[in-house]
Amino acid sequence: MHPFPALFPLLLLLVTTSLPLAHSTSPDHFFKPSSPSLSSSLSPAPSPSPAPEPKEYFELTHPLPSDRLTPSCVLQAINHSFANTINKPPYSTPYYPPLDCPPPWSHVTLEFHVQSKGDQYDRISALWLGGSELLRTSTAEPEEHGIFWNVRKDITKYSSLLVQNYLKFTLMLENIVNDIYTGVYHVNVTLYFYKDNAVEVPLTFKNQNLIAPVLQSPLYGDKSMYDPPADLIIPISAPDSSKGYWFIIESELDVKFDKVRVPLNTRKVVLELYVSFHGNDEFWYSNPSNSYIRMNNLSTTRGNGAFREVFVTVDGKLVGSEMPFPVIFTGGINPLFWEPVVAIGAFNLPSYDFDLTPFLGMLLDGKDHVFGIGVTDGIGYWLVDANLHVWLDTASTVVEAKNVVNIYPASQISRSEQFQSLDGSFEIKAEKSTRLEGWVKSSSGNLTTSITQEVKLRSSIRFSKNGTYKAVKQNIKVRREAKVLNDVGGLVSRVIVRGRYPLKVITWTLPGLKNDTYILVTNVTHAVNERIRIGKLSSHVNNKQVSNGWMEVKDHSVLSGEVMTNQTYVCRDEFGCYVRTVAALNGTLIKDDSAIVCPSVK
Ligand SMILES: *[C@@H]1O[C@H](CO)[C@@H](O)[C@H](O)[C@H]1NC(C)=O
Ligand SMILES: *[C@@H]1O[C@H](CO)[C@@H](O)[C@H](O)[C@H]1NC(C)=O
Ligand SMILES: *[C@@H]1O[C@H](CO)[C@@H](O)[C@H](O)[C@H]1NC(C)=O
Ligand SMILES: *[C@@H]1O[C@H](CO)[C@@H](O)[C@H](O)[C@H]1NC(C)=O
Ligand SMILES: *[C@@H]1O[C@H](CO)[C@@H](O)[C@H](O)[C@H]1NC(C)=O
Ligand SMILES: *[C@@H]1O[C@H](CO)[C@@H](O)[C@H](O)[C@H]1NC(C)=O
Ligand SMILES: *[C@@H]1O[C@H](CO)[C@@H](O)[C@H](O)[C@H]1NC(C)=O
Ligand SMILES: *[C@@H]1O[C@H](CO)[C@@H](O)[C@H](O)[C@H]1NC(C)=O
Ligand SMILES: *[C@@H]1O[C@H](CO)[C@@H](O)[C@H](O)[C@H]1NC(C)=O
Repeated sequence: MHPFPALFPLLLLLVTTSLPLAHSTSPDHFFKPSSPSLSSSLSPAPSPSPAPEPKEYFELTHPLPSDRLTPSCVLQAINHSFANTINKPPYSTPYYPPLDCPPPWSHVTLEFHVQSKGDQYDRISALWLGGSELLRTSTAEPEEHGIFWNVRKDITKYSSLLVQNYLKFTLMLENIVNDIYTGVYHVNVTLYFYKDNAVEVPLTFKNQNLIAPVLQSPLYGDKSMYDPPADLIIPISAPDSSKGYWFIIESELDVKFDKVRVPLNTRKVVLELYVSFHGNDEFWYSNPSNSYIRMNNLSTTRGNGAFREVFVTVDGKLVGSEMPFPVIFTGGINPLFWEPVVAIGAFNLPSYDFDLTPFLGMLLDGKDHVFGIGVTDGIGYWLVDANLHVWLDTASTVVEAKNVVNIYPASQISRSEQFQSLDGSFEIKAEKSTRLEGWVKSSSGNLTTSITQEVKLRSSIRFSKNGTYKAVKQNIKVRREAKVLNDVGGLVSRVIVRGRYPLKVITWTLPGLKNDTYILVTNVTHAVNERIRIGKLSSHVNNKQVSNGWMEVKDHSVLSGEVMTNQTYVCRDEFGCYVRTVAALNGTLIKDDSAIVCPSVK
């Protein structure tokens, strides 16, 4: 991700100063020029006459609940090309709800279609409606014969924005087009609206009708919070949108603030956080400590250790925090891995949800409150913003609320490091237990929300072979329970989420075939494993991606390589199961099987 031109000289400098004995702290972000040597070694057999078709890229996920429904209407929202858009304001266009199928809608689906051709880095992008973010996505690095992809996202939770007239869609995608970087990103955004009486068309897999799982994707927590959708969405975002509505966070001290006032009849409030990390923190989970960089006189600025947490404050009080899921962009670690299957979350980055209902007591005074967003130990740069989803008590003008338990400490972090010259290890353990409780008295009674959450992170980085072999392991485990009780202690709802998010990255730098190249042997294993229990219903998602291979690199360009990426996505609930297994060898899919009968687990 290089939206700022200043990063280019920096990148080149980092790579050249570490050659020829390349050290594994050198940048892990590359680009695939369509030079003859690369295309001949990476394409299957050179096909004769007809020009190869553009190749479809995708992120493995499961069908959306709306995929088996016929839309009542379709709205073409954006059709725009992003060429040399660096340092330019985002693209904006007015939005009006479709006249031919007025609300209410049971589902709304967003389709983000991109095509590109030529040479280009991956880029970060976001789509906002009325200043509230709907999608954070990144682009795939194109090829000489062209590529395209399609991101589908359920955006029903943004219904209160979608019903409004006079809002603006805003799409930010900073790109550089010149003699070297030729890839233009052509984006079209389409909205599909579904009415309650939509006709069901079962999806068919191998002659079996699929009952699409009730879950929305991607998961990363409890999305049932948004059912039904909020009545009001308030953006917590940059006041000056000339660089997009996201805040650009450059350091730990760079906390961003926005003032928000919620209506007096608010009965529930959820903050949805969008996050992506770039520049020196693109691979924060693999950053060694500053003492290692200093003692070895390394020129890298990718330091500060491998712990990051995005936090949210209200009037200076900590109310939420998240150790973000490490999304790898398509230029990351080994760009040949992410062809045509991108890394988990690369096309649809996770957003994180904080149920702030237990804090409603401090917000219901009719005054402005200052929301803050920052990144613990963060270095340049992070792109963050949030949407405050607000549910109102339509039967009254004033709601009463009070926070009764507020245990939200900073994470307990223990670090140990041991190194001699370039070899050594860095371990981090972080833990956090939180408990929140508050009651809200509205026309639907006096409801008490209590939320307990335990988060554990284990991180280890090991350098060996004189710093040329680097092994990174990270595991994040989360258990969250949210209960709502009525006046007499009766259970209204209960949701339990258990998640595990393991990541392993190995990079081994070896001398290249020529004296100005090097070989990088790379292995990445990444997974999302979540179980969600809502009342008596439970669901389970297991998404695991394994990539092994090597590449030959000159400066930051990939010359050749050999890679294999395997991924299996399993999603099951009371209504069915969906499984898809893919394998890609040297950028070509050699396996793509899906079924609705899953092997039994446990
Ligand atoms: C993958 O690419 C490597 C390096 O170019 C080559 O040696 C290998 O034979 C390729 N494998 C296949 C199955 O095409
Ligand atoms: C989108 O724009 C391109 C070029 O600007 C045009 O060729 C194409 O027809 C447009 N597509 C739609 C659906 O409007
Ligand atoms: C978006 O663009 C692609 C490629 O030009 C095209 O195939 C697709 O139909 C377009 N979608 C819409 C809704 O115009
Ligand atoms: C780092 O630089 C200092 C000063 O130039 C030098 O004394 C020291 O030996 C260097 N250390 C290493 C590990 O190269
Ligand atoms: C709401 O319920 C809580 C817990 O039962 C109680 O402490 C509180 O006083 C109640 N609030 C009102 C306004 O009745
Ligand atoms: C280890 O790497 C450093 C820096 O790349 C180099 O100066 C040194 O000679 C290497 N040591 C050995 C034993 O290869
Ligand atoms: C190796 O590097 C030297 C100097 O850096 C250069 O003169 C020479 O041409 C290079 N050899 C090859 C085969 O690239
Ligand atoms: C990467 O994984 C492959 C397959 O599991 C293994 O053979 C290889 O040794 C690994 N490479 C490194 C550098 O650890
Ligand atoms: C990846 O998938 C291929 C094709 O199904 C299979 O041959 C290979 O063993 C798989 N590799 C791993 C590491 O699972």
